[in-house]
Amino acid sequence: MKFFIDTANLAEIQEAQDMGILDGVTTNPSLMAKEGIAGTDRVMAHYKAICDIVDGDVSAEVISTDFEGMVREGELLAALDPKIVVKIPMIKEGVKAIRYFSDQGIKTNCTLIFSAGQALLAAKAGATYVSPFIGRLDDISTDGMALIESIRLIFDNYGFETEILAASVRHSMHIIQCAEIGADVMTGPLSAIHALLKHPLTDIGLEKFLADHKKANS
Ligand code: G3P
Repeated sequence: MKFFIDTANLAEIQEAQDMGILDGVTTNPSLMAKEGIAGTDRVMAHYKAICDIVDGDVSAEVISTDFEGMVREGELLAALDPKIVVKIPMIKEGVKAIRYFSDQGIKTNCTLIFSAGQALLAAKAGATYVSPFIGRLDDISTDGMALIESIRLIFDNYGFETEILAASVRHSMHIIQCAEIGADVMTGPLSAIHALLKHPLTDIGLEKFLADHKKANS
């Protein structure tokens, strides 16, 4: 399973890249706003800065909701760097735009997926990735992981090449469960990746190894 980080924070992206486990980055307009990135020139420069750090796909989201606007924005984004994946919302105009970009050989990530039907539609249009939002489903007492299972079954039934990018991952158990089900990619915060490191027996064991070494060598 590929590990993407869901942030526009350059320091966090660099940290994950330096760990040697990073396969890509996803952003969205909220994450860009959180970093205080506004205005077309700054937004474009920030995407370019992310591409310069990471070895892998970088999802950059369009703001337009009409086909022509999405195409215009997506083409500008794609021209920035070959790593850019145009992130497009799951709406009717978005499906048309995904088909357009797919025909042009430009990668897309269909975002705001909350049902298997939406994922199927995006895959039919040729999306490179679909992004089902696990955490936001959990937030409304709906099993986000069941959606990943359902999409996995459907895509495997028909051999869709569209990758399942489990998004809105909030914690380490989400990551483990995505890996068990067979999501192609997970995107989450750095904190969820850090949480995978942790086990108390690791800390206790390391402390004892170092203490024994110190005793034997003093
Ligand atoms: O980037 C889309 C998704 O990962 C957002 O996550 O935590 O805002 O639901 P969250």
